[in-house]
Amino acid sequence: MLTSLEEGEVYENEEEEEGNVEEIDLGYEARSQFRLFHSRTKRWGCILAHRRAGKTVACVIDLVDHALANAREYPAPRYAYIAPTFAQAKDTAWGYLKEFASKIPGTEIRESDLSCIFPNKSVVRLYGSDNYDRLRGIYFDGVIIDEAGDIDPRAWPEVIRPALADRQGWATFIGTPKGMNFFYDIYQQAKNEPDKWFSLTLKASETGILTAGELHDAKHMMTPEQYEQEFECSFTAAIKGSYYGSLIEAADVEGRITKVAYDKAAPVYTSWDLGINDTTAIWVFQIVGNERHYINYYENANQELSHYVDWIKALPYSIEMNYLPHDAEARELQSGKSRIQFLRGRGLTCDSLDKTKSVIGDIELVRSILNRCWFDKELCKRGIECLKMYQSQYNERMQVLSNKPLHNWASNGADSFRYSIVSGAENRAKRQSFWDTLGKTKSKYVSGLV
Ligand SMILES: Nc1ncnc2c1ncn2[C@@H]1O[C@H](COP(=O)(O)OP(=O)(O)OP(=O)(O)O)[C@@H](O)[C@H]1O
Ligand SMILES: [Mg+2]
Repeated sequence: MLTSLEEGEVYENEEEEEGNVEEIDLGYEARSQFRLFHSRTKRWGCILAHRRAGKTVACVIDLVDHALANAREYPAPRYAYIAPTFAQAKDTAWGYLKEFASKIPGTEIRESDLSCIFPNKSVVRLYGSDNYDRLRGIYFDGVIIDEAGDIDPRAWPEVIRPALADRQGWATFIGTPKGMNFFYDIYQQAKNEPDKWFSLTLKASETGILTAGELHDAKHMMTPEQYEQEFECSFTAAIKGSYYGSLIEAADVEGRITKVAYDKAAPVYTSWDLGINDTTAIWVFQIVGNERHYINYYENANQELSHYVDWIKALPYSIEMNYLPHDAEARELQSGKSRIQFLRGRGLTCDSLDKTKSVIGDIELVRSILNRCWFDKELCKRGIECLKMYQSQYNERMQVLSNKPLHNWASNGADSFRYSIVSGAENRAKRQSFWDTLGKTKSKYVSGLV
């Protein structure tokens, strides 16, 4: 075992080797701020920590330590490090995992699937929540979810939590806040159930990990909100580069995220995004006077088109028009039919939208209309999460926001929402003026981004 853990500090479900425990020096000395984390005994954990606190290193060493300490022979113990994307896992954690693993004689380091198999056959492997289906059907003894504020919120309830069931595995969420999202809910749960959850908050003003000079300098280069989020663990700051975050927050404050009932007097429309990775996102909405009422949202992946038709047909009202992106007109090689033809064949009334000349222009149009949108709190929950987390790419090296949206779990729902806005006749005309001012001038600016 590692020198950083005291004897006896293991989870009940993990079979610790009796006596004869060999100490291996991996050249790692836990930062004092993380000692409580390494010695936690609760099954669930949540850590809020400032940037550069040493979160990723602590996660990796913790997994290695558990893997080495688990003496179960069959089935081989399995541990996972999960980052928001697989590429992020590789960039941030793989170097640390290899470095520690290479000091343990007899460890197999597998570049092909970013895993290490230790001499006791325990495995530590890296994953990304962008491809969480890979985690399906596997058991885990323990997982750490790093940068939990950015992970796809569906990954936990649908795949990661079930994967812990048969071995009664543990999980720890760790990260810097990213607005009032899924990670915030987990943090609240951890605070409310201290008998079940280990929780820890590490603010830069308290840990002393970063020097006062460094923090002073950072403060001068960031907005007060950004500084509070990144270094003081505040959940209230707007998400960096979020296109709609502050407008969704305003909708919430103004009571526009509430129970929004179907209005019999108004027609119902849908807008679809037939996304990459087979994710399809559908918003269901009505235009009531000057307001737009979003009354339902559905998203799924790896399903046949007919699955979505069945979902639409099961709704307790009929759909006046289903709006699809322009590429729904393209013929599929296998069937020779386009997706829009397929949907029409199944009895849906469909229209396809013109190809956009400027996504940024369309985003700006959405922003100008969001203050007239109402959302059903329950039925549109996932869609609202997507709108909050839809953001521009951030160039870490240049430390600037790019003019391109980030493709992540939130982008399909946000794209579908954009189609709902540009679908209306009045907005189709307006769209041109937004293209003229933004698209044609090649402006990189979207108003109100933080
Ligand atoms: N226990 C430790 N002893 C010495 N150096 C450490 C330790 N833990 C982390 N570091 C160093 O601190 C720096 C930040 O570590 P790490 O990447 O784990 O932080 P982080 O909190 O995940 O950062 P970010 O917020 O950027 O994701 C790295 O240079 C790492 O090598
Ligand atoms: Mg990190």
